[in-house]
Amino acid sequence: MGENGVLIPTGVFLLRPVAFRGPCKGSVMFQIREALKAATDKASLLDHWISFQYIDQLMINGGGSLDGEGASAWPLNNRSKDPNCLPLPVSMRLDFVTNSRISSITSINSKNFHFNIFAYKNITISRIRISAPKDSPNTDGIHLGSSTDIRILDSFFGTGDNCISMGPGSKNININNVHCGPGHGISISSLGGSKMDADVTGFVVRNCSLVGTSNSTRIKIWVPSYPLLVSNLTFEQIKLRNVSNPIFIDQQYCPSRISDQKVILFFDLFSFLNFNT
Ligand SMILES: *[C@@H]1O[C@H](CO)[C@@H](O)[C@H](O)[C@H]1NC(C)=O
Ligand SMILES: *[C@@H]1O[C@H](CO)[C@@H](O)[C@H](O)[C@H]1NC(C)=O
Ligand SMILES: *[C@@H]1O[C@H](CO)[C@@H](O)[C@H](O)[C@H]1NC(C)=O
Ligand SMILES: *[C@@H]1O[C@H](CO)[C@@H](O)[C@H](O)[C@H]1NC(C)=O
Ligand SMILES: *[C@@H]1O[C@H](CO)[C@@H](O)[C@H](O)[C@H]1NC(C)=O
Ligand SMILES: *[C@@H]1O[C@H](CO)[C@@H](O)[C@H](O)[C@H]1NC(C)=O
Repeated sequence: MGENGVLIPTGVFLLRPVAFRGPCKGSVMFQIREALKAATDKASLLDHWISFQYIDQLMINGGGSLDGEGASAWPLNNRSKDPNCLPLPVSMRLDFVTNSRISSITSINSKNFHFNIFAYKNITISRIRISAPKDSPNTDGIHLGSSTDIRILDSFFGTGDNCISMGPGSKNININNVHCGPGHGISISSLGGSKMDADVTGFVVRNCSLVGTSNSTRIKIWVPSYPLLVSNLTFEQIKLRNVSNPIFIDQQYCPSRISDQKVILFFDLFSFLNFNT
């Protein structure tokens, strides 16, 4: 047990939005033995359900599950009806967290992303299970941004959007033995939308299977786009079943804006090896 900890014992508990903010002395353990369920009322529609910030040595585990009760909120996620609609809660949001581990946790039916990881350094995520219907909006499994030294291992993702998406500033990401499907694949997205966007480099995606995904490995670049370097990416031993596009590089990603600005993007050192359909 860490020096600080929250242990949620066996049982199914309703949990309203909660934020844990460090820094703390010593490690922090968050253990779910059975299940937590999110609230569904409007007052609970913040940008997070469970948030951790500024924590070193966070350990999340316990074998239990997080149920985001997404079906209550997915109809509100409609930008064509309301372009200013509020962001829906991410089930677990981790910002400025270092030297941590997430393992043996299930996340189902998040209202928005299941996990959003920002400005993280050195984390291992293993034996997690993500599940949401294949038509649920924006239910990315794990979204990473501005994060370094991340390992995602031995995990299962079935969801409505990207299984794993890696945004600007992602570096040294290792993904091994991951199943994705249904879902939109393992993506690098969406790059170049802001002047502040940092380069993306050092990905190894190995020994993964993608089943029934529309796009398996996708790289999305906004138009208009600021200059950015994307380098040293390896996708190796990828098994594909019922996948429409094994590799999709979209340099015109622009769902709502119209622009004729040229994309300035530099690609270097890519390898796509041993794709097996
Ligand atoms: C979003 O809103 C538009 C316009 O009102 C509607 O046509 C569409 O069916 C809605 N989509 C969803 C997923 O509810
Ligand atoms: C990464 O985090 C783990 C878990 O806290 C720790 O054991 C390991 O020493 C860290 N690695 C580095 C390079 O700091
Ligand atoms: C590769 O994936 C297979 C099938 O999921 C798994 O059994 C095996 O342990 C993985 N190998 C490594 C080195 O992770
Ligand atoms: C490419 O990325 C891998 C994995 O992160 C790293 O070990 C390697 O040093 C990188 N190579 C270069 C030339 O940067
Ligand atoms: C292929 O994937 C599509 C999209 O997820 C799905 O609707 C379809 O049932 C799958 N077909 C087979 C043969 O698995
Ligand atoms: C595949 O990716 C491309 C580029 O982002 C996108 O236009 C397309 O809609 C995706 N396919 C599906 C079925 O989601």
